[in-house]
Amino acid sequence: MSVALATQLREGTKKSHTMAENTGFVSCFLKGVVDKASYRKLVADLYFVYTAMEEEISKLGDHPVVGPVGMQELNRRDALEQDLVFYFGAGWKDQIQPSPSAAAYVERIHAVAQESPELLVGHHYTRYLGDLSGGQILKNIAQKAMNMDGDDGLNFYVFNDIADEKAFKTTYRSTMDELPIDQAMADRIVEEANHAFHLNMNMFKELEGNLVAAIGKVLFGFLTRRQRAGSTEAAAA
Ligand code: HEM
Repeated sequence: MSVALATQLREGTKKSHTMAENTGFVSCFLKGVVDKASYRKLVADLYFVYTAMEEEISKLGDHPVVGPVGMQELNRRDALEQDLVFYFGAGWKDQIQPSPSAAAYVERIHAVAQESPELLVGHHYTRYLGDLSGGQILKNIAQKAMNMDGDDGLNFYVFNDIADEKAFKTTYRSTMDELPIDQAMADRIVEEANHAFHLNMNMFKELEGNLVAAIGKVLFGFLTRRQRAGSTEAAAA
């Protein structure tokens, strides 16, 4: 038996998608307000999340529900490793650790893989179909905002093994529609996808704190420089 899982996921996560788009960090990102320190923290968090997801999914290659969606072309861990070398240098591994919200996300992925691996489909959908959908736009925004050239530091958005992202998404959706699941399982997968959106939002909210601190620091520096310049002018007058 199969159900129209792709449509159910799209419809069933619409509200969460809007909420994710409206988190401070994501909307700042869309406006081109991205500082390198917060961005590299995001890359580090995503590294832990994708490592967990790809480790668990690769172990389930023969699983009737998880196996078919585990398409190798989507894997992001290697791309994230390249980006981490760019931001942190060759010793990146010793310099990063997951934020508390990324650690909770990773824990959830491992728990689901143990207890009910089918639910990994909800996690897979939330991240990879989102990456395929917004990748190019987000890459351009990040590139401009951080004054970067080429793909260095932005490999996360580049799917070298996918020639046509739109066509790939169509294949991905029909693969999901053919998964051997019943409606009760589809409901649980949609619920888990919504949970995955919330885990992402928690990560963004934590980064938002860093971003606000970074903007505050720049503003403080600007104001104190102005104040100093003002008092020098007053002293000179
Ligand atoms: C920066 C803000 C975002 C924008 C502007 C954005 C934009 C979009 C757009 C335009 C689509 C539709 C693509 C299509 O129909 O082919 C889409 C799909 C999607 N996005 Fe986002 N998105 C954003 C953030 C996110 C986040 C934070 C996540 C999850 C972590 C996410 C997950 C998804 C998913 C799973 C889909 C596939 C929906 C479906 O067709 O089933 N998006 N996004």
